[in-house]
Formats: sequence, structure tokens, C-alpha cells
Amino acid sequence: MKVRPSNRISEVKEYYFSRKLKEIARLKVSGKPIINLGIGSPDKPPAPSVRSVFNQEVQKEEGHGYQSYYGIPELRRAFSDWYQKRYSVSVDADTEILPLIGSKEGIMHISMSFLNPGDEALVPDPGYPTYQSATALAGGENRLYKLSADNGWMPDLEKLAQEDLSRVRLMWVNYPHMPTGAQPTTSFWEELVAFGDKHNILICHDNPYSFILNPEPRSIFSVPGARSCCLELNSLSKSHNMAGWRIGALVGGEEFLSEVIKFKSNMDSGMFRATQLAAAAALKLDDEWYEELNSMYRNRKEIAYQILEDLGCDFERNQAGLFAWGKVPSDYEDGYALSDELLYQSDVFITPGGIFGTQGDPYIRISICIENDQLDEARNRVKELIKTKNAVV
Ligand SMILES: Cc1ncc(COP(=O)(O)O)c(C=O)c1O
Repeated sequence: MKVRPSNRISEVKEYYFSRKLKEIARLKVSGKPIINLGIGSPDKPPAPSVRSVFNQEVQKEEGHGYQSYYGIPELRRAFSDWYQKRYSVSVDADTEILPLIGSKEGIMHISMSFLNPGDEALVPDPGYPTYQSATALAGGENRLYKLSADNGWMPDLEKLAQEDLSRVRLMWVNYPHMPTGAQPTTSFWEELVAFGDKHNILICHDNPYSFILNPEPRSIFSVPGARSCCLELNSLSKSHNMAGWRIGALVGGEEFLSEVIKFKSNMDSGMFRATQLAAAAALKLDDEWYEELNSMYRNRKEIAYQILEDLGCDFERNQAGLFAWGKVPSDYEDGYALSDELLYQSDVFITPGGIFGTQGDPYIRISICIENDQLDEARNRVKELIKTKNAVV
């Protein structure tokens, strides 16, 4: 190639799912009946009322031009009312909410706005891979903090506090945690905010799973004083079946958001007005929406747990979020080995836990964004594989 890519881009690889989904597509074209239990993209549509708002808006003569960089007031107000109703947290619609094209872009925006070369970001291992990529692309350095089943997948803040944190600017935190589905103890939130405050670290809480199989949705801003050192990303991707619509928000104090807007307003323009109004309608949905969604996911999660059981994996029940996470039996080298065996011998794709960090190596993650009959079929194939293997032994 005559034009060399930037040094920055060599810091990251193509996203794992971007590569793996290509391979799965190729296997499907070659006739393999793959069941994909990989990615957490809700398979059901948004509520009919949400879609009809979009339809009506699209038909209008107006509303097709550029939109405000800050999001339209109707959407900011809807996010603010939603925070009040769902988390009992009050946020100013004019100054403390910045609508985003999904929370993924917010991770990049925050990293670009608060990291200088040489600055460190504390990143969970295992955790959402985008935190590490965004840090690297922004020129920062990833400092992994290890999570493990032994401490409920929570950071050891006391241990971290004993280390040299002078270069740390940001800490990424995500509860309910992806990929493990862990929820922290109640006292954790207060301890986390105190940690950020004491060490001048911006705590960035990524909160897209708070309404999925989580009996107590929580915003970090329910902790007094969190405004001075915390940001929160939220998203309609999982909670409102709107992953493809690309709608999220950054919530936090005005002083932080005004820095992020400097970056974002140079990168993109406001989202399509019809999308924003539909999102506002989604945020106004009543309890029934969340109850129905969760009752569907509860059934699916049970089947996913049964698959883990059949595979001989060790796992906790009551995992929040869109996945079932389990530790593979010791006769497999790691989660990659089990994932490959299932893909190539049973046409079932399950994510190896190692893509979320080395702490995830001995684990696999099953998505429940798929109909019960497909999950049942995946389970049958798993049982068949085990039967065949046992017969050989
Ligand atoms: C922990 C976590 N954060 C953020 C995202 C991205 O969400 P969004 O669709 O809002 O960009 C995901 C998506 O899978 C996720 O698992």
C-alpha cells in the first residue's frame, strides 16, 4: 500500500465481532445452519407507539435538516424525566444531558476529551473492549484492573488506592457488568465516588443494561456528590430494542459536558429529528414495557443457563443483562477452545470470554437476543455433541 495508515490506527485491531460475523456469514453461505448466540443486539422491535412516532415525523415536510448539536429539547427533557422516574435522580435537561449516537460513541468522545498522551485510564478486565480501543486511539494508556468471580467481579478499590495513581485520569466502570452480569453491593457506589473524588479520577459509568433483568436499576448520580467526579453513559439499544437506531446519552455536570461538546460538535451533527422524537416516546413508555421485556428475557436466560449446565460450566444464577456467563470445564484449555468446538462441530456460535480480557479466558458468554426455539435448538445440538463425545470415550 502506497499510503501508510496512521500510527494511531495500528494501536487497535478490527473489532472482534466485525471479524467473527464475517466468518459466520461465510459459513452460512457455504450451507452451515449456524445459530448465533454471540452478539447482544435485541432481536425484537421497539414498541409500536415508538415506531409510529417515527413514521409520522418522516412524512412531515419539516424536520429533515441539521439538528442541534445538543440534541433537541424534547429528547433532553424526556431523558431528564426518565432519570427522575426510573432512577429517582434529578438532572437538568438543558445542561446535564447530551444525546449521543449510542453510548459507544460516547466512550470515544470522553476519551478524546479527557486523555492526553501518557495519561492512564483504568479499564476493567474483563470488560467491554471499546474502553481499551478508545483509550489507545486517544493516545492514552490502558491500565487494566482485574475483576474475578471471587470478589463478585468488583474492583478492589482499597488495593488500587495503594498504587501510584498520579497518571490516572479516567476509570471505566459498568454495572450491571458486561460480560458477567454481576451487580455490585449497595455500598460500592458510595466507595467508588469517594475514590474518584479523592484521587481526582473521572469515574465513567457505562450503564446500558440497567433495565435488563436487574431488579434495582441504579444511576451513579444517586450518590450525593457524584456530579463533581462522575459521568454516566446510557443507551436505548438494550432497554428499548433500539440498537440499530443509535440512541444514547451522556449525563453529567455541565463543566464536563461542555468539554465533550467541543469534540462532538466537530465530529458529527445532531441526530435525525424523527429518531430523536421516537426515542423521546420510548423513554415515556410505562412499566408494562419493561415487565414484558424482562419476562421474555427471563425465560430465555433459563434456557441459556441450561446450556451452560449441559456444557458442564460453572455459573451464578441471577445474572443481569443480555447474557449468560459461565466458566468452562477444566478439560478445555479455555473458552476459545469450547467456542471453536461448538462452532465447527455443532454450528452454534458462543462468544469466548477471552475477547473481554485475559480474566475472561476460561469463560464463555451466551447471548439471549434470540427466540426460545433457536435457544432450544442450540441446546439440543450441544447435548448431541456431548453424547457423541461420551460415546467415543
Ligand atoms: C457494556 C457496553 N457498553 C456500551 C455498549 C454499546 O451500546 P450502544 O449501542 O449504546 O453504543 C455495549 C454494547 O454491546 C455494551 O455491552
